Amino acid sequence: METAEIARRFLSFFEKNGHTVVPSASLIAEDPTLLLVPAGMVPFKPFFLGQRTPPYDTATSVQKCIRTKDIEEVGKTSRHATFFQMLGNFSFGDYFKEKAIPLAWELVTTPVEDGGFGIDPDKLWVTVYLEDDEAERIWREVVGVRPERIQRMGMEENYWSMGVPGPCGPCSEIFYDRGPEYGAEGGPQADENRYIEIWNLVFMQYERGEGGDKTGFPIIGELPKRNIDTGMGLERLASVLQGVDNIYETDIIGRVLRRAAELTGTRYGDDSDQDVMLRVVADHVRSAVMLVADGVKPGNEKAGYVLRRILRRSIRNLRLLSGSDTAFLHELTAVSIDAMKDIYPDLLDKADVIHGVIDTEEKNFAETLRAGTALFGRVAERTRAEGGSVFSGSEAFQLHDTYGFPIDLTLEMAAEQGLSVDESAFRELMQKQRETAKADARAKKLGNADISLYAQLLEGAGATDFLGYSDSRSESRIKGIVVDGAASPAAREGERVEIVLDSTPFYAESGGQLADTGTLSVDGRGLVDVEDVQKPLPGLFVHRGTVRSGEIALEDTVHASIDTDRRHAIERSHSATHLIHSALRNALGPTAGQAGSENRPGHLRFDFTADNALGGERLAEVEEEVNTVLARDIEVQTQERGLEEALRMGAMAMFGEKYGDRVRVVEMSDYSVELCGGTHVPSTARLGIVKLLGESSIGSGVRRVEAAVGADAFRRLSRESALVGQLSEQLKTPREELPERIDAMVSRLRTAEKEIERLRAAQVLQAAGSIAEGARRHGSALVVAQAAPEGTSGDDLRKLVLDVRGRLGEDEPVVVAMTAVPKDRPVVVIAVNKAGQKAGVKAGELVGVAARVLGGGGGGKPDIAQGGGSDAGKVDEALRAVEARVASA
Ligand code: ALA
Repeated sequence: METAEIARRFLSFFEKNGHTVVPSASLIAEDPTLLLVPAGMVPFKPFFLGQRTPPYDTATSVQKCIRTKDIEEVGKTSRHATFFQMLGNFSFGDYFKEKAIPLAWELVTTPVEDGGFGIDPDKLWVTVYLEDDEAERIWREVVGVRPERIQRMGMEENYWSMGVPGPCGPCSEIFYDRGPEYGAEGGPQADENRYIEIWNLVFMQYERGEGGDKTGFPIIGELPKRNIDTGMGLERLASVLQGVDNIYETDIIGRVLRRAAELTGTRYGDDSDQDVMLRVVADHVRSAVMLVADGVKPGNEKAGYVLRRILRRSIRNLRLLSGSDTAFLHELTAVSIDAMKDIYPDLLDKADVIHGVIDTEEKNFAETLRAGTALFGRVAERTRAEGGSVFSGSEAFQLHDTYGFPIDLTLEMAAEQGLSVDESAFRELMQKQRETAKADARAKKLGNADISLYAQLLEGAGATDFLGYSDSRSESRIKGIVVDGAASPAAREGERVEIVLDSTPFYAESGGQLADTGTLSVDGRGLVDVEDVQKPLPGLFVHRGTVRSGEIALEDTVHASIDTDRRHAIERSHSATHLIHSALRNALGPTAGQAGSENRPGHLRFDFTADNALGGERLAEVEEEVNTVLARDIEVQTQERGLEEALRMGAMAMFGEKYGDRVRVVEMSDYSVELCGGTHVPSTARLGIVKLLGESSIGSGVRRVEAAVGADAFRRLSRESALVGQLSEQLKTPREELPERIDAMVSRLRTAEKEIERLRAAQVLQAAGSIAEGARRHGSALVVAQAAPEGTSGDDLRKLVLDVRGRLGEDEPVVVAMTAVPKDRPVVVIAVNKAGQKAGVKAGELVGVAARVLGGGGGGKPDIAQGGGSDAGKVDEALRAVEARVASA
């Protein structure tokens, strides 16, 4: 039975039994305790916990799931997958065990021609939780399962929770016996490979707390109602019903597997390591397709990292299988989309996006691999040469930090070479780097006061009342003064201070909007210049600045006043950011999510997720759209709304950001709706004009646009216009013809540079004749071992060595070893002629000898090889070592 048919039967069986069919939720979990959805019940969790009233009492679904905890097991067992689909039926306080158990049995055992799965009851076993007499009784008395086919198991197997606080309960599982060729007799207790679990029925009636593992976690209470949550792995059931050995050979995954074998020229099915790799590829490609379809982008954190890891594992396995670095993912992605399109028709609409993301990652990873593999090779070789078996943590860190090697990749590559990695040293370095970055960021934002001092201030003064949405001035009272990192009753002229007020019109930097500046004055006594405002704790506004004159003291009444011109300029930038965000989404689709922003007077920058550059033309379109929309003078409205209502309105929220129940929504008609705590212009015409200043990449998958706003935009345009005028005069060329003119100049320059390069190379090669004459006999070979003329580049060195070798002919063994020191690092190239190779001299080996002396590594083929090191002072010694090695050969 085809996978798609199994899913259809499942849903229609439960629909006939009164369940509402609910479509799969996205793989990206809304639940903040999870990254990705690992089980069918996740979208229903608030119903189980009684936090929300379900619109139906019973439901059924086929939910897309991702689990990566056992990623190492994929391909090695018959049943582990990273992406899979969970068939489930759910009852929210409606039926319980007495109905869930017989329903499951009915569907599994009803003959195929009557709409069921037609599994022979003789092949089925069940398990129940140790204390669950009730479930056992139902299996025996209501369903009629023989007592010897029912086994009791402990908490680890038969008590289910999400692994985090939430709903939980004892469960009962149905197992399928694959037969004696798969393992020992004796039911699920005896052998989990022979008896595979096909359906888990969870009797959700408790709530669990934090802590503990699968074998014991705290139960903190009963759920308001008794519920049912079941889960049956669609792929596993497909493997049973299709009579294949494992999930990778089922109709859908099997197509990718077979194509991967074809493409890489390998055979599947002889139980080798290659089989495992092919299964990994088949599983991972499908998971990647589904993740990208749900909007995940490869990245270094969270779901992005899961996707990146899966893609990179596929690429590595494909390279190992094919022994080449050909890019195969595009083709396999296409096969996977085609295989899944019947169940997920949206994959066809998204195919271009999916290919785009996966192709880009494959390309980037090839680059990463190329650069990092060389370093990895050197370190691995050195480690082994020194008789060690542990790859150093600091070099694993360097691979990560400089070459973007994920640690998993280093671990895998090391394992392939029989090495382990000093992971704890690696993690320590990572931790140190994170802490330094955090401390830097904190030190920049706050003075030196420690956070406990702010906590005391917040407790003493209460949350600051923010008046700045409507007011630019206030009469407020000083509730805290910090001087030199300590609380102080007063501050005098010239002192740097941090001041907490009971209320303030000053906006504290947040959501990308810079803080206000302004003054705090105490009548007739003192004046403070406020330079920055931060919120070290939610609700606590800390004004930082200098006492310009007089003195201030606790409980003084101050006139707080912000620089309104500056604030208005910042507001223009912030409102422009919202317009640009919408225009980018219109251009790139909803995946162009906000990844950061900064709004300062006259200037903004906006970071967003995208794989590829937008390009000049689309950038111009975005700019035009923003300027057209702003000229409509749309009123900017702000309102408080419930979070759910806001999201329903399509409000754009920052991914990964936590919001309270009530949120502030900023609307510019329906063109832009965003959750935002910032301040804005009253209507869009205030922006005047917005000029985009280009885009750049600021990391994998994140791009940045910058823009000038209002008068700044105008000044910029006018400056540029003047600049073009100046160029036109200098080059005596009309403005419109400047690009052509400059093109022509640049290409002339290139030609000239190439000519110089050619002459220089010719000069180097001219030396070849006299170098060849310097050949000396060592043992039975003619050897040239000398440094190349000064200024020889790495490329030229190779040419020179080959030229010299050519001049020395094939009459007898010839070895040419030469060094150069481009960019302060020594390079050695060694070539051996055919006669030499026949005599057993290998260039690769000789390079190893030289490179070790130079403090580095290298390698290559027997005829020519290259290496390098760090110690330029040892060039001579290295060449002598090569001679000695040849002499002794
Ligand atoms: N929620 C249960 C599981 O994932 C059914 O196994």
